[in-house]
Amino acid sequence: MDIHSEKILILDFGSQYTQLIARRVREAHVYCELHPFDMDLDAIRKYGPQGIILSGGPKSVYDDGAPAVEEALFELGIPVLGICYGMQLLALHFGGKVVPAGKREYGYADLLSKNKPGPIFDGFFIEGKSPVWMSHGDHVEKMPQGFEIIAQTENAPVAAIQNVDRSLYGVQFHPEVNHTPRGEILVDTFVRKICGCKGSWTPGQIIEDAITRINEQVGTDKVILGLSGGVDSSVAAALINRAIGDQLTCVFVDNGLLRLAEGDQVMATFAQNMGVKVIRVNAEDRFLQALYGVSDPEQKRRIIGNLFIEIFEEEAACIMDATWLAQGTIYPDVIESAGGKTGKAQNIKSHHNVGGLPEHMKLNLLEPLKELFKDEVRAIGEELGLPHQMVWRHPFPGPGLGVRILGEVKKEYADILRQADAIYIDELYTSGYYDKISQAFAVFLPVKSVGVMGDGRTYEYVIALRAVETKDFMTAGWTKLPYELMGRISSRIINEVRGVNRVVYDISSKPPSTIEWE
Ligand code: XMP
Repeated sequence: MDIHSEKILILDFGSQYTQLIARRVREAHVYCELHPFDMDLDAIRKYGPQGIILSGGPKSVYDDGAPAVEEALFELGIPVLGICYGMQLLALHFGGKVVPAGKREYGYADLLSKNKPGPIFDGFFIEGKSPVWMSHGDHVEKMPQGFEIIAQTENAPVAAIQNVDRSLYGVQFHPEVNHTPRGEILVDTFVRKICGCKGSWTPGQIIEDAITRINEQVGTDKVILGLSGGVDSSVAAALINRAIGDQLTCVFVDNGLLRLAEGDQVMATFAQNMGVKVIRVNAEDRFLQALYGVSDPEQKRRIIGNLFIEIFEEEAACIMDATWLAQGTIYPDVIESAGGKTGKAQNIKSHHNVGGLPEHMKLNLLEPLKELFKDEVRAIGEELGLPHQMVWRHPFPGPGLGVRILGEVKKEYADILRQADAIYIDELYTSGYYDKISQAFAVFLPVKSVGVMGDGRTYEYVIALRAVETKDFMTAGWTKLPYELMGRISSRIINEVRGVNRVVYDISSKPPSTIEWE
């Protein structure tokens, strides 16, 4: 079955939760795409969705220039679910009235069923009640024509509306956020029962479909891929290898700024276990030389990024007949580069991702993950047989330890940091904390402090430990690790790593700090 034959269209009005709606639809095993609210009606018809979801948004429907949909959208005969702002648009279109609420409602509310809730609330209420997450300033005061109220809260007398005959539904709360505990039931009901989707979007089917498409695209051509050991490029490599075997060559550049034994692990997983053709380039010396005497963070990033591309190009030139470059681009990257309104506009640090395509390379681009969210990439990674630890590994920046050694990068520092980091991560795994944390790592501080070991005075370096919890890496809080665990990590690092006599813990949030130290 074609996994794209059923699809939901999500029109984005700028809510911070829009991507979550898409994730919920995918969790119901249905394909969906996110598009700007002003998507052309012809384009919508051509896209042919089984259902449309209108997201929330920061504006009021009466604001000047408030985003709206083409009126005829509601006449297409396609089921619509309006969420928050989306519901208000629906109400307005059918002659309802939306007014500013007496007070902005933000947080939990008890949703109470009213009248006879139709199919949209199947399985949602328990004894006529369900906790939901509200975040809105306006609400529907006068009901739109042909609609009935099917739920209310203490502050919102019109918390959900429906017109069952036309399959139009609106909810004032946010079913897509985790704070609405049964929200996924509602999204699942909408896409399956109301829109009639069967749910063919499963890891197994996604892989099968991707393999067919890769084969169609590439034929008998040769493909190269820059393997970094990170989740996205690893899953892309495994998938493409499954599709075209040794037409794929991966280039793995060991820049000397990787974690302990990382290069060997990548080679073991791909070359030995999966039979992927991987060229390993040991380029530690070149990177260290290029970084010699440089301590400015941005300059270090640029040097590492440019040298990576230079080496990658050298290797690519040796694989002369390759006409495709594969990249592990994922759906959020696509949404962002399509000009989605993320808060990322400001360039705080220049991010370099492995595999950036130099203009003059003129290779065709193969991006088999570009419809997938990170959690879907992980699911298919596991299905393809990649090790659990690789698939669930915390993010690691492109410039690697280069931005975790403050100031000038030296081999001596990188070796110390690698060992300290490995002990830290090992203890997090053993204690069961690794999977609860979004990202954890050690940082090397090139300052010396005085200590005492046995009978002797020491004068050695400091290691800082960082652990954060975050959903989107735009904001983050520091993790409250148990003191006992911190104590164990600290004494192991000081005892086992030569050159370190002091360990400190980073208790800064983002903002105003960032996750990495450089
Ligand atoms: P910051 O330090 O900006 O990090 O709060 C946010 C997330 O991005 C990762 N990061 C990078 N990833 N290349 C990458 O691929 C980079 O240059 C880079 N810099 C930061 C960081 O590890 C965190 O997950």
